[in-house]
Amino acid sequence: MANLSWKQYFDKRAEVHGASVQSSDYYNEESFFLQRNHTLGWLGELHDKEILDAGCGVGAFSEPLVGSNTVYGVDFSERSLAFAAERGLRTSSDDLTALHFDEGKFDLVLCIGVIQLIEQYRAVIKELARVTKPGGTLLIETLHRRSWQRKVLRLFEKTKKFDRMYAMDELKKVLIEHGFEHIEFLKIYHPFSYVSKGNAEWNVHDRLCTSFAIKGSKKHV
Ligand SMILES: C[S@@+](CC[C@H](N)C(=O)[O-])C[C@H]1O[C@@H](n2cnc3c(N)ncnc32)[C@H](O)[C@@H]1O
Repeated sequence: MANLSWKQYFDKRAEVHGASVQSSDYYNEESFFLQRNHTLGWLGELHDKEILDAGCGVGAFSEPLVGSNTVYGVDFSERSLAFAAERGLRTSSDDLTALHFDEGKFDLVLCIGVIQLIEQYRAVIKELARVTKPGGTLLIETLHRRSWQRKVLRLFEKTKKFDRMYAMDELKKVLIEHGFEHIEFLKIYHPFSYVSKGNAEWNVHDRLCTSFAIKGSKKHV
């Protein structure tokens, strides 16, 4: 789907579902909380950090970080952003391929459930890398292309919902190209409510991993 259509799609979802995580297209609340709790737990305690939630939707994912950090939220769905602002994110409407922030502004950049919608994902990662501070962390969460469950689901799809899915090593290569190191993965296995950690895609269990988060630290130059 083209960018404009995704904007309309998420504006419409926010109009219908309001501040709920249904606006951000999560399958259900249980799946959202499984992902959010494990992902934020993986990052550890965060205080006094400058954080960007890129493609923040209604802001539910980064909301727990708001109290003790400064959290900025960017999205092109203005209706979603209105709910993110109510959750305490400092919001602005932007396309992720051209962010208005200075280079190296953020200690942590989150991009959750977004790049599967974006054909030009390399331009987005380039921007996310640019605004990450040296020594800061970039964390991207997306759909796993090699998942057996997703391959089966695709057979029954009437219309293709997402533009892309990713292999773990594919994104690892892109992060390394943009100057990140210490790359690790958080692997999520729906519908088994199981989550594991690792630094590579390496065994047969990973074919049951439906979504994954990848994080890396930006090298000091
Ligand atoms: C599946 S939702 C995820 C929202 C949020 N990250 C979460 O996990 O709750 C994807 C979000 O990305 C936004 N988005 C997609 N492509 C974008 C782009 N090129 N620029 C800005 N926002 C974009 C959509 O408007 C939508 O709010």
